[in-house]
Amino acid sequence: MSELQGKVGIVTGASSGIGFQIANVMAEAGATVYAISRTGAPKEGVGISSEGVIHVKGDIGDTAAMEALLKEITEKNNGCLDFLVNNAGATFKCRAEEFPMDKFDHVMNVNVKYVFEMSKLCFPYLKKSEGRGRIVNITSMSAHLGFSEVVPYCTSKGAVLAMTRGLAVEWAGDNICVNSIAPGWFKSKMLDQVADPAREQKILGRMPFHAYGDTRDLGAMARFLCGPDASYITGQDFAVDGGALAFGTRLPCPVFLSKESECYPGARPSLRPPHLDLFLTALP
Ligand SMILES: NC(=O)c1ccc[n+]([C@@H]2O[C@H](COP(=O)([O-])OP(=O)(O)OC[C@H]3O[C@@H](n4cnc5c(N)ncnc54)[C@H](OP(=O)(O)O)[C@@H]3O)[C@@H](O)[C@H]2O)c1
Repeated sequence: MSELQGKVGIVTGASSGIGFQIANVMAEAGATVYAISRTGAPKEGVGISSEGVIHVKGDIGDTAAMEALLKEITEKNNGCLDFLVNNAGATFKCRAEEFPMDKFDHVMNVNVKYVFEMSKLCFPYLKKSEGRGRIVNITSMSAHLGFSEVVPYCTSKGAVLAMTRGLAVEWAGDNICVNSIAPGWFKSKMLDQVADPAREQKILGRMPFHAYGDTRDLGAMARFLCGPDASYITGQDFAVDGGALAFGTRLPCPVFLSKESECYPGARPSLRPPHLDLFLTALP
């Protein structure tokens, strides 16, 4: 497949997890992908990058370094950039009432401020892209649903969703499409930071597939959004989530029923509506 043949773009946070595979899938479709991370290479155990992925060491919060990098990349490409995938992200798990404010700032900076700044820095180059420049942001289920112990992360992803819509409207007249992808749950270093067995049960229980996704599926969505068939799509958020948003209930799946008290610590059985057992046994 070569739907991105000749295209040149950036994927931030591509040293591991989702960004690593987005970069691979896009390069396999013919793009030259500059993969930016502070590590500057695939992290240990992540695997080997596809041909066409160029790893660059850099912190997306370092404006001067990003400006210099963009100049270097675009000089080789007639002053233009075809896509930017704002994937780099950060999280921290802690109850809201105890959340350290320096961690709050870090999550908001990486997930929101630097996404905005990278978009701003890339704007003059994306404008010049033939067939419309593309920005793809990575949101999350937490932009749509509430999750405990990661409230600043939820806040940041809600902001990215709003930023996606705002930039899409403002930059439509500048030859740029801006969309986002909302991943469900994918095994990654970030997920390891927040997941524990009980949380994992809750997470998998609230989606029809009851399974983690394959990060290459997110790559395929990014490839489509940056490809020739998506030039009329802007301001949209695309869930790749095993049906999580469609599930329509926040209840645990049947397999976890017997452990209700673990799922809802402190919940008294008498608070459970009488019809619930019947209803839950009917769930997929
Ligand atoms: N995994 C999931 O289930 C899931 C679900 C919803 C949304 N997401 C989102 O998906 C994105 C990728 O997360 P992931 O799960 O793949 O986690 P991950 O494996 O921890 O990847 C995070 C990436 O961001 C990079 N990064 C962090 N700070 C950076 C900075 N200042 N400058 C440059 N790169 C930076 C990291 O590389 P270095 O450490 O080398 O800099 C790493 O490559 C995030 O936006 C996350 O919020 C993930």
